Amino acid sequence: MAGKPKWAVIVPVLCGIAGGGAEATAGASLKPVLDANGCSNCHAQSEQIVGPSFDAIRNKYQNSPDAVGALFTKVRLGGTGVWGQVAMPPNPKISDEDLREVLNAILKNGPGASAPPKPLP
Ligand code: HEC
Repeated sequence: MAGKPKWAVIVPVLCGIAGGGAEATAGASLKPVLDANGCSNCHAQSEQIVGPSFDAIRNKYQNSPDAVGALFTKVRLGGTGVWGQVAMPPNPKISDEDLREVLNAILKNGPGASAPPKPLP
C-alpha cells in the first residue's frame, strides 16, 4: 500500500517542422563565396557543368600534399588541359584568403566529402 507517486513525464514531440537544409555546413558557408566570384557558373559540388565537379577535383587531388598551392595558381591564372580542352579563364577577383579557403574546403571537407583527408607524409 505504498502510495508511490507516479511520474508522468510528457515529452512534447514537435513534428511538422520541415527539415530541409541538411547539407554539409562547409558547403553552405562557401556558397556565397563561390557565387560571388563566378565559380558557381562553371562548377557544382557533384556534377560537371563547364568545369569539373568539386567532388571530382577532390578525388583527383586529395592525396597530393601540394595541391592547394598548385590549384591556387591554376585558378588564379586559369588554364586548360587537365580535365579536357575547355579552358578555365583567369579568376583575378577572388581574394587570396577566400581562394585558399575554397580550395581547402574542396580538397578536405567539401560538402559531400566522404573520405577523410590524408595526413601529410
Ligand atoms: C568559365 C568557367 C569557369 C569558371 C568561372 C571557373 N572555373 Fe574552375 N575550371 C573550369 C574548367 C573548364 C576547368 C578545367 C581546366 C582544365 O582542364 O585544365 C576548371 C578547373 C578548376 C579546378 C581544377 C584545376 C586543375 O588543374 O585540376 C579548380 C580547383 C577550379 N576550377 C576552381 C575554380 C574556382 C575556385 C573558381 C572561382 C574562383 C573557378 N574554378 C571558376 C571552368 C571554370
